[in-house]
Parts: sequence; structure tokens; C-alpha cells
Amino acid sequence: MSTHRELASSARPEIKVRKPSFRFSEVPRYWLWGNARATAMANALNLVFPAGERFFIRSVKHFVDRLAREWDDPELLEQVRRFMGQEVRHGMEHERFFEALVAQGYEIRSFVEWYERIAYGIIEKNSSPKLRLAVTVALEHFTAMFAERALTRPVLSEHAHPAMRDLLSWHACEELEHKSVAFDVLQRVDPSYALRIAGLACASSALVYFWIAGAHHLMKQEPPERRRPSREELRVAREHNVLLNGEFLRAFLDYLRPDFHPAQKDDYHLAREWLARNGEAIGVA
Ligand SMILES: [Fe+2]
Ligand SMILES: [Fe+2]
Repeated sequence: MSTHRELASSARPEIKVRKPSFRFSEVPRYWLWGNARATAMANALNLVFPAGERFFIRSVKHFVDRLAREWDDPELLEQVRRFMGQEVRHGMEHERFFEALVAQGYEIRSFVEWYERIAYGIIEKNSSPKLRLAVTVALEHFTAMFAERALTRPVLSEHAHPAMRDLLSWHACEELEHKSVAFDVLQRVDPSYALRIAGLACASSALVYFWIAGAHHLMKQEPPERRRPSREELRVAREHNVLLNGEFLRAFLDYLRPDFHPAQKDDYHLAREWLARNGEAIGVA
């Protein structure tokens, strides 16, 4: 298929596996906007990321041998290796943040065990390898949407604790770098529109369900006065929560286009620029 060849000769950035360092011990309990609700939504994403990223790796890895055997495309194969390397590091860093959440007094184990049992012990085990790959591709599309927002809006740069701003911005940069990889693998394995959309349906419902369940689990642990949203919290949620401000829906609809490809949105420069400005501070320059 020509799409991949066209991308290879374009300005697609190098996919680089980096090993940054973050000091989570200094992160306060309400690290985003000083706001329990916004922080719970962000922390819940943190809780679902590590197992999710291990799932992405398994889903793509399943097809690596076939990729090497059946398609003469060493460049894509190398990108797949680097995509897996980046996702391993993301999972590790987000899992390190779990310890900070526990130190802040949150009980997270019961949620993480429940989520992993349902999502990967039951749903993944009963899905075909092609559907798992299609789900991964759709989730990569949503992570690219989160990444673009993270690097272009003031949410992290102005309202987050620096360690979390750096963790999420570094993750965002690498998500943009590798945003086409799983998609290109799916195009080789099975370019069917129906499969891609089945992946979207499963991915979006699972993401929303587990994300909200995680946020609910964390909010339940807040003192009663923090559980009632203030006017400011409601305003922030309406404007910036992607489930409420229409951005999740727009990303969903964008993916429905039959000619969709992640690289149609040229936002790689956001990653280059952020890393050029901040790479040294997080030890990856
Ligand atoms: Fe990631
Ligand atoms: Fe990713």
C-alpha cells in the first residue's frame, strides 16, 4: 500500500526511545488546577495507561513475525520495535507514579486489579488478534488526540505540577512520534474498514468506561467537601474535559472517514519543539 511509502519520505520524525527522570515525590495531592475533579480524571488515565500500553505492545507484537516474513519493509519493522520500546518506558513511568498516589493516601490496588481482570483477563482473551490490533490502533488515535491537546493548550503548562506536566508532555511527544505505526501495521494485516471501525467501537466504549470508573474510584476517597463540585470545577470540566467539550466526539468522528490516516494531521513539530525546549530538563536531550 502506498500510504506508508508516502509517509516514509515525508517529514515523519525519528522514533526515539528515551529514558527521562521525574520527581513524583513532590507532586501534591491536587496537582492539576488545585482541583480534585480534574486531578481525579488525570490520575484515572494514569491508572489505566500501564496495562493499556502493555496491551498495545502484545497486540502489535503478535504480527511482528508475519511483518518480517511477508512484507519487505524493514523500515516499518524498525518503527514497530521503537514503538514497543517507547510504550514500555511509558508504562514504567506511569506505574512509578502509582507509588506517589499511594503515598498521597489513595487506595488504587482494587481498581487496578479489577480493571486488568476485566479488560485483559476477559475481554482481550476473548477477542481475535486482528480485533485486538484494531482496538490498539483506535486507542493510539485517542492518545494522539490527548497528546496534541497536551502540547497546545495551557492545561499542563499553566495548571499542572511541573513533574506531571513533564511526564505527560514527554509521553505526548512520543505518542505523536509513533502515532502512525500501529495503524500502518493494521493496514498490512487487514485494511478492512469494518475491522477498523469495530476496533473504534470497542476502544472508545472501553476507554470511557474504565476511565470514568477509575475517576469515580478516586473521587470516592475524597473528603465530602471535595466531592461536591464547586462552580470553578464545573467550569473547568465543561471547558477542558474532552468527554464534555466535544473533543472526544470530534476525534471519534474523524476516525470514521474511510480515507483517515493519523499522519494527515501534521503535528510532529509539536513534539520536536517541546523536546528541544525541555529535553535537557528531563534528562533526554
Ligand atoms: Fe504511550
Ligand atoms: Fe502509543
